[in-house]
Amino acid sequence: MLNIKNQVTQAIEKIRSAYTGKPRVGIICGTGLSGLTDQFDSKTVISYEEIPNFPRSTVQSHEGNLTFGNLTGIPIVAMEGRFHYYEGYSMQQVTFPVRVMKELGIEILIVTNAAGGMNPQMNLADLVIIEDHINMMPDNPLRGINDDSLGDRFPDMCAPYAPELIELAQKTALEMGIPAHKGVFVAVSGPNLETRAEYRMLRGIGADVVGMSTVPEVIVAAHAGIKTLGFSVVTDLCLPDALEPVNIESILSVAATAGERLSRLIPKILDQLDGSATE
Ligand code: HPA
Repeated sequence: MLNIKNQVTQAIEKIRSAYTGKPRVGIICGTGLSGLTDQFDSKTVISYEEIPNFPRSTVQSHEGNLTFGNLTGIPIVAMEGRFHYYEGYSMQQVTFPVRVMKELGIEILIVTNAAGGMNPQMNLADLVIIEDHINMMPDNPLRGINDDSLGDRFPDMCAPYAPELIELAQKTALEMGIPAHKGVFVAVSGPNLETRAEYRMLRGIGADVVGMSTVPEVIVAAHAGIKTLGFSVVTDLCLPDALEPVNIESILSVAATAGERLSRLIPKILDQLDGSATE
């Protein structure tokens, strides 16, 4: 198998035949957020299937496109649909698109996901600005020989979510009247949802929201020196003593409502990015 760098080079060659710009921001659209790309100017859509070494999405509710365009005048690359560890991909496959986006030139990554809300102050469809995370997945995308040209062997994780972007997101949500908390995200492998005892434990170790994605991508972004901003949308309430069976249709419908809020919030945040946020 080719090493990561050669795989990235092959992917970039194909992408460059369709898009020659330099995106400044990468966005990973989680469940419900695909509407964001409807607002793009000068859109170029490349199906994951056309890109060498890109995994294929196996989840029906997720699309599979790398979409380029401008939002508030800023060149963006958006992943419409992401890859999950529970689908059977390796952590290197799950995070490969982040390596590609880095090579395309992004300075900031915005990651979004659907998550279960364990903090009792949260309501369905609330946004959570991720201030930190806990990795409970059984694997790590950086395991194995480190390519020093991609990042450090032992990347620092004291602030994987950029404090100035967290502050900007919080201020903007407040101004727009969009309910947004700050919180800790814990990543589990899935695909099953958690038992009551597991929610109790995850809350007890300090997490506010739980989901099956995001942390691998954020670890690779930290390794690659990309500034990250993360959002969860609360799609189900996970209070151990009042737990109800969730159904995926309800998760998807709540995600669509919250996705609409995020689709309004993200452009407003982008509009306020100045040089300082990307220094
Ligand atoms: N647990 C894990 N992942 C999730 C949940 C949950 O309750 N809701 C949405 N994604």
